[in-house]
Amino acid sequence: MDNIFYHQPVMVNEVSNYLITEKDGYYIDCTFGGGGHSLYLLEKYKNIKIIAFDQDGDSFNRFNSNNNLQKFKDKIIFCKDNFRNILKILSNIKIDKVNGLFADLGVSSKQLDDMARGFSFKSDEILDMRMDQSQKITAYDIVNTFSKEKLQDIFFKYGEEPFARQIADKIVDYRIKGSIKTCNQLSDIVCSVKWVKGKINPSTKIFQALRIYVNDELASLQEMLDSIPKILSKNARAVILTYHSLEDRIVKQSFKSFQIQGFKIINKKIITAGEDEIKNNPRSRSAKMRVVEQQK
Ligand SMILES: C[S@@+](CC[C@H](N)C(=O)[O-])C[C@H]1O[C@@H](n2cnc3c(N)ncnc32)[C@H](O)[C@@H]1O
Repeated sequence: MDNIFYHQPVMVNEVSNYLITEKDGYYIDCTFGGGGHSLYLLEKYKNIKIIAFDQDGDSFNRFNSNNNLQKFKDKIIFCKDNFRNILKILSNIKIDKVNGLFADLGVSSKQLDDMARGFSFKSDEILDMRMDQSQKITAYDIVNTFSKEKLQDIFFKYGEEPFARQIADKIVDYRIKGSIKTCNQLSDIVCSVKWVKGKINPSTKIFQALRIYVNDELASLQEMLDSIPKILSKNARAVILTYHSLEDRIVKQSFKSFQIQGFKIINKKIITAGEDEIKNNPRSRSAKMRVVEQQK
């Protein structure tokens, strides 16, 4: 059975405290990953049920093979799908309202650390970055076939990279010699344009931009958020954890727009991880939590 390390869940206590308003309700975990949040909630609230989404086949395999998760297999409905399809899936399984929705956006540690998945600039494997491995377009296709202008646009829009133009130029020049196959190769090209400053790898923003583009992350997020007013029952909450400003802006604006539909913003100030958690789990440093409640 697969009980290897997959991902350390972030702010589990805060998520649980804000999300659970009904002790025997149905909850959606949009981003199951290694199941850390779902497991915490199921262990704490014996009568809840979880509808879990993840578009990554590795997450589904984890659910099927992990001893601790399998103890709760009758309480989890796993949908290996993009969370942008929530409305369609809920209609298929004949559930129209739920008591809460949770999302922990971005990639899991497993996705980043598994070099074969081609997400990390440390990887010597083919540029890939697909969360859904059945999807056709990969980071390799983008880096090797997109025009200079299109690459610049992606790096600027999704990475907020100030050197977007210079990096796109360099990539297109490099392609004259041959294709850019691996993550390392791309990272070296970026580092030849940008100096190494401090601890952050200079290609971080470029890798973020490509990942967001490959997985169409921002459009999926917007579609999932748009479904919230249709599926939350009275007093139910949506709790969203974001890790960069592009995601957080979309969540903030959507929650604001829900107010005219009878929603209340629960936290005016962003909720963040405590000092101890940040020490134990550096990934939690950038987490921002927003909570909204359906009042009608
Ligand atoms: C940060 S991890 C979640 C970790 C999880 N909370 C845990 O405790 O293990 C994000 C997960 O969401 C999945 N994901 C990201 N965007 C998605 C989308 N649009 N639809 C479905 N799954 C998505 C990723 O494949 C990844 O497994």
